[in-house]
Amino acid sequence: MRTQIAIVGAGPAGLLLSQLLHKGGIDTIVLERRSRTYVEARIRAGVLEPGTVDLLTHAGADGRMRREALIHDGLAIAFGGRIVRVDLKALTGFPVTVYGQTEITQDLIAARLGHGGKLVFEAENVALEGFDGAHPHVSYESGGQTHDIACDFIAGCDGFHGVSRSCVPGSALTLYERELPFGWLGVLSETRPVDDELIYSRNERGFALCSMRSKTRSRYYVQCPISDAVEAWPDDRFWDELRRRIPAGAAERLVTGPSLEKSIAPLRSFVAEPMAFGRLFLAGDAAHIVPPTGAKGLNLAAADAGVLAAGLIAYYRDGDRTGLDTYSETCLKRVWRAERFSWWFTAMTHRFDDDAFGRRLQTAEFDQIMGSRAAATAFAENYVGMFRAG
Ligand code: FAD
Ligand code: PHB
Repeated sequence: MRTQIAIVGAGPAGLLLSQLLHKGGIDTIVLERRSRTYVEARIRAGVLEPGTVDLLTHAGADGRMRREALIHDGLAIAFGGRIVRVDLKALTGFPVTVYGQTEITQDLIAARLGHGGKLVFEAENVALEGFDGAHPHVSYESGGQTHDIACDFIAGCDGFHGVSRSCVPGSALTLYERELPFGWLGVLSETRPVDDELIYSRNERGFALCSMRSKTRSRYYVQCPISDAVEAWPDDRFWDELRRRIPAGAAERLVTGPSLEKSIAPLRSFVAEPMAFGRLFLAGDAAHIVPPTGAKGLNLAAADAGVLAAGLIAYYRDGDRTGLDTYSETCLKRVWRAERFSWWFTAMTHRFDDDAFGRRLQTAEFDQIMGSRAAATAFAENYVGMFRAG
């Protein structure tokens, strides 16, 4: 078998890249370890930057999103007894779009298959070879048989635990990492959201987030010890804890119901540099992780796919290698902006044990956003992802 670009991983990065390249006349094969059902059901992110919406539009996968997504002009940050609304639209000119990662994944898979795209689900033992030379290839097992794909380039879009990054010689990568001692316990429920906009909330009990997937489906999170098991959090305990962490008005409006999904996600900051090695390009979580507080993970994955697609299209169309040669540098500028913002927003809104000094700093950070239009604007620019990346 032969293709121009072999893509490992059918998450948002791999699927969007495949679809953007298809629009640019470039042939791809996507290899995914899991089943289609599993990939389409995985509950993760929910807030899209305008740049991500633009990329989905270029990819021709925006039809359902335009009909069903919610447009949010602002969000609220609650701190102790106080609350500030950050008017994203007024401060930056841009709103954010609330649309689940599950929906994006389904839309992209439908778009790929609708155009005759080659997606291989349940591809086992994917192995990347020859990407430090001129003839890369990828092998995998499926239905008890081994297959080999020769290609021009490989895109490693297989997430943090994928195989692509680990194929790069350790000496060629520099890893930057910080782990946090807590996680997010998330619940999805078929209930009306407490508010029309997201509420990020911090009080003496810790962090909570009120988010949503639609006007009838809520997504809530509470900070919890990373050592906790999901079984330690029956629905009643979750709703009680959430109610105690969010502003009084929201707590009164909270409608509870059975959890459709409940999981604990670790909080981590991680960057692997550079994001390219020979004919292998890493994109999305394969190269970087942010704590979810800034809602940046999915948006970074989409941005990488956009930069890589543009570089590959220029290469095939005009023989211009510039976009490929600068891929890593271009992406890393945005990545580090998002790492900084996500780390800072996490530090401001989460409970760190026994840290009286840190608690005072958190209050000062909140006061700054509450009292300064310039600080609120800087926050809003980062949240909507609209800034000059260096
Ligand atoms: P992924 O979505 O991880 O996709 C990688 C794909 O590669 C997967 O389908 C995987 O099955 C496949 N794969 C892995 N290994 C192999 C292999 N060896 N061979 C073939 N295929 C392979 N971000 C937010 O903004 N908000 C959130 O609330 C949020 N919650 C999250 C919760 C969890 C549990 C996790 C893990 C992430 C969360 N994120 C969140 C981050 C966001 O979902 C990711 O940044 C985004 O999914 C990145 O997309 P990706 O395509 O790079 O990677
Ligand atoms: C979500 O809806 O899942 C969500 C929203 C905002 C975040 C993180 C997660 O910052």
